Amino acid sequence: MGEQARATLRVAMIGYGFMGAAHSQAWRTAPRVFDLPRAVEMSVIVGRNEDAVQAAASKWGWREAATDWREVVARDDIDVVDIVTPGHSHDEIAIAALEAGKHVLCEKPLANTVEDADRMAAAARGSGAIAMLGFTYRRVPALTRARDLIAQGRIGAVQQVRAAYRQDWLVDPEAPLSWRLQKDQAGAGALGDIGGHAVDLVQFLTDQQVTTVSGVVDTIVKRRPVETERIGIAGRGGDEYGDVTVDDVAIFTGRLEGGALAAFEATRFATGRKNELTVEISGEKGAIAFNLENMNELHVYDRTTPDTDQGFTRIIVTEPGHPYLEGWWPTGHMLGYEHAFSHQVKDLVEAIAAGTVPTPTFDEGAQVQRVLAAVEESSAADARWITI
Ligand SMILES: NC(=O)c1ccc[n+]([C@@H]2O[C@H](COP(=O)([O-])OP(=O)(O)OC[C@H]3O[C@@H](n4cnc5c(N)ncnc54)[C@H](O)[C@@H]3O)[C@@H](O)[C@H]2O)c1
Repeated sequence: MGEQARATLRVAMIGYGFMGAAHSQAWRTAPRVFDLPRAVEMSVIVGRNEDAVQAAASKWGWREAATDWREVVARDDIDVVDIVTPGHSHDEIAIAALEAGKHVLCEKPLANTVEDADRMAAAARGSGAIAMLGFTYRRVPALTRARDLIAQGRIGAVQQVRAAYRQDWLVDPEAPLSWRLQKDQAGAGALGDIGGHAVDLVQFLTDQQVTTVSGVVDTIVKRRPVETERIGIAGRGGDEYGDVTVDDVAIFTGRLEGGALAAFEATRFATGRKNELTVEISGEKGAIAFNLENMNELHVYDRTTPDTDQGFTRIIVTEPGHPYLEGWWPTGHMLGYEHAFSHQVKDLVEAIAAGTVPTPTFDEGAQVQRVLAAVEESSAADARWITI
């Protein structure tokens, strides 16, 4: 192994909100749980507010805090740039980092527009560095196992798919107008934020792309109280209201390459549903069902057993032998939301060390953005079918 291959990977993370916390935990945990081929150093965390980013650095264990991401991504002592800011900033940061020769981990959505996503994918292809997108649910062990079972033919040819990502945090009409509700920063609403996860997951599980879509998007509460940001705390500011410029709900149908229809729903108005991502793949020999709220479980149905014995079988995916479970706990000792982020770091570091291309690639991210843009186009055209 050469010096370069053995050297410590020095990471800079841009952003320090929800995903900043999740990624910090993963950068800290993955090297302690898995035998990674490269050591990791949490070098610099970057944000716009000096005091707040310094506080985040101390709390999460970053060596330095900085306020200028351009300066940081150009530094010689940084190897990996981890982007955990809102979607409108992803293209500029990722392209600058790739052009500076840094490996990039970028949160989803890849970008807010197809054009920006395509530019990022081109930059990744033209770079000698590794670029990976954060569709983290691909790294939930039960979903990795589901993909393997489908690839092995356990449910036969896929005939129909249902995927829904349901939350309810906008049911309150006084919930503030955060960046997630503003098109210039978020790109889209439920469609782009959580609908993207549903599309990626269906494509990941079936290994088939969505080729055409028909759907509608809707905004239920059109004006909300403007948000003020105090250090580390976002809340409503006063009596000022502003326009919601993204969708609250998206309901669409997609056709997969193999011909199966897939029903998708993405909503922040599913009263009572906190973070329910459900996927059900129905095949000619069986079916597989998953719900993120019980994320260690797969429900598998096998039509080839005698009729009298048929029914969905609940499988707890914590058995040893699964590549993500080797570092964790004995079988049956459950994993949670944060573990998938550690698996993401594991896969990225292994790919960097091996010089292989990790998935999801930026090209895959751009393709998901195409599907989402086609849903918006369809909605604007009375749910006409749009080919991607
Ligand atoms: N993989 C997942 O499951 C998952 C889950 C949640 C969010 N996300 C994605 O992660 C990204 C961040 O979301 P979040 O929930 O952490 O948001 P957040 O609002 O909690 O945090 C965003 C952070 O970015 C910083 N920021 C904003 N604009 C910036 C700029 N121009 N330069 C530097 N910093 C800037 C903010 O100060 C904040 O620290 C989004 O793209 C979101 O879609 C992914």
